[in-house]
Amino acid sequence: MGKSYPEVSEEYKVAVDKCTRKLRGYIASKGCFGIMLRVAWHSAGTYDVKTKTGGPFGTMRFKAEQSHNANNGLENAFPIISYGDLYQLAGVVAVQLTGGPDIPFHPGRKDQNEPVKEGRLPDAELGADHLRDVFVKAMGLSDKDIVVLSGGHTLGSCHKERSGYEGPWTRNPCIFDNSYFKELLSGEKEGLVQLPTDKSLLKDPVFRPLVEKYAADEDAFFADYAVSHMKLSELG
Ligand code: HEM
Repeated sequence: MGKSYPEVSEEYKVAVDKCTRKLRGYIASKGCFGIMLRVAWHSAGTYDVKTKTGGPFGTMRFKAEQSHNANNGLENAFPIISYGDLYQLAGVVAVQLTGGPDIPFHPGRKDQNEPVKEGRLPDAELGADHLRDVFVKAMGLSDKDIVVLSGGHTLGSCHKERSGYEGPWTRNPCIFDNSYFKELLSGEKEGLVQLPTDKSLLKDPVFRPLVEKYAADEDAFFADYAVSHMKLSELG
């Protein structure tokens, strides 16, 4: 039995196609691949499986949610389709435009009317236990999803005024590839960033073999990334 997606009208489908084209043009012209993927992740990553609250339902449009500490620097993003669909489409397009895998996109997220409370997204200063609390206990994802989605740091950079960190994880932050895992395994380097949460992937007995697998096999990373990213984008 396939998963059922909400019905959307023909008119809505046309609007999604049009929006995909606009997003491609906008994201390519601005080169804002990293921040668009981060918007999608922060919109979906607030999902809480127990209370069935949060998730990719457009609540990041509220100033109150944009001002959460983890969202510093995301207020500069942009709006006929729901905000929930727009944010997720932006993430899918950013990955596709930078050479990453095609991620299936299903429209139909209904926007919710209240911002999510602060404190659901992960804290970069913590380690593997914290990543499991957020991704597995709260969001309902798996250990494998943690490692493969961390590979999203192949795009973009840290900014001192947003997180306190400065610089990209890889030498080509506009190319989606498996270099995040290669850089992680080969140690810290001048000019490149590794967050404490990134480094925790090396120490954990379940995470580390997956880091090694994705560093050695980009096709395996792309195949697993497309599955995990779609799961993230459809939480709730
Ligand atoms: C595992 C837990 C995670 C932590 C603790 C974390 C933390 C961070 C931090 C601190 C930054 C720097 C923000 C700045 O200074 O501008 C960042 C940026 C970013 N994150 Fe994550 N992140 C996590 C997971 C993810 C996931 C799952 C994705 C997507 C699949 C993702 C995609 C990105 C991208 C693309 C950027 C760059 C944004 C830009 O270029 O402006 N992150 N993350």
